[in-house]
Amino acid sequence: DILLNKQQFLQMKQDRKKIAMVTSYDYPSAKMAEAAGVDMILVGDSLGMTVLGYDSTIPVTIEDMIHHGKAVHRGAGNTFKVVDMPFMSYHISTAETLSNARRLYQETGAQALKLEGSGDVSRAMAKLVQAGIPVVGHIGLTPQSVNVLGGYKVQGKDKETAARLLEEALEIEEAGAMMLVLECVPRQLASFITEQLSIPTIGIGAGADCDGQVLVYHDILNYGVGRLPKFVKKYTDGNQILGDGITRYVQDVKSGEFPEEKHTFTMNLSGLPKE
Ligand code: KIV
Ligand code: NA
Repeated sequence: DILLNKQQFLQMKQDRKKIAMVTSYDYPSAKMAEAAGVDMILVGDSLGMTVLGYDSTIPVTIEDMIHHGKAVHRGAGNTFKVVDMPFMSYHISTAETLSNARRLYQETGAQALKLEGSGDVSRAMAKLVQAGIPVVGHIGLTPQSVNVLGGYKVQGKDKETAARLLEEALEIEEAGAMMLVLECVPRQLASFITEQLSIPTIGIGAGADCDGQVLVYHDILNYGVGRLPKFVKKYTDGNQILGDGITRYVQDVKSGEFPEEKHTFTMNLSGLPKE
């Protein structure tokens, strides 16, 4: 694998080559994503739900993101990695935003950071770019604001909200973002925004016309998750396959069928006194 860069993602958009992105949160998931040939990995704050068991991304901290980001880096050193800035880590002041961003970027070895929202957040993104940190935008359904949005639901379904999302997208491009994630927006809107922007769009629940797609690792593998959202395609059944493996192991230990001779070490008994 070769590590792609910002310019090559721009070129992929121009050449209409789709960008494949998946989340990873630890060493094995990162290794598997890299081996599968993904173009970029997102160390998403969705790790709050998928691997830490929270019911939203709100409790996730900078320390959590660094801990998991480092593990992903060890598993996928040759893949472009985007790390999420977690809840409220880029809202309080420019100084705090920059110091959080510095830690996430330097300590995880990520190639870019992702921030949810626009307005003040676009201005924060411009500051990061000015400091030399590539940034990715994220609009539409922004899970860190779930309690303001009133739930996990499709955004930009009517003319006014669609027009606002287009404005936000243009503003984020203007702030210097290298890419924009569109989450849960109607495909017609995602398609129009994708045409209007020169930077690539990455969709999740945003239809086929985005420049790339991102999905959550645990969702596509149906691993440790319950009901899957409409926009997820399930590629294997981790719950069933891995669940079956662990169940059979427990049964074998209890029945004495594991370990067998071939799993067992023996001593060289020659020369030892017989009893
Ligand atoms: O945290 C995450 O997984 C994300 C993607 C779903 C875009 O932000
Ligand atoms: Na996220």
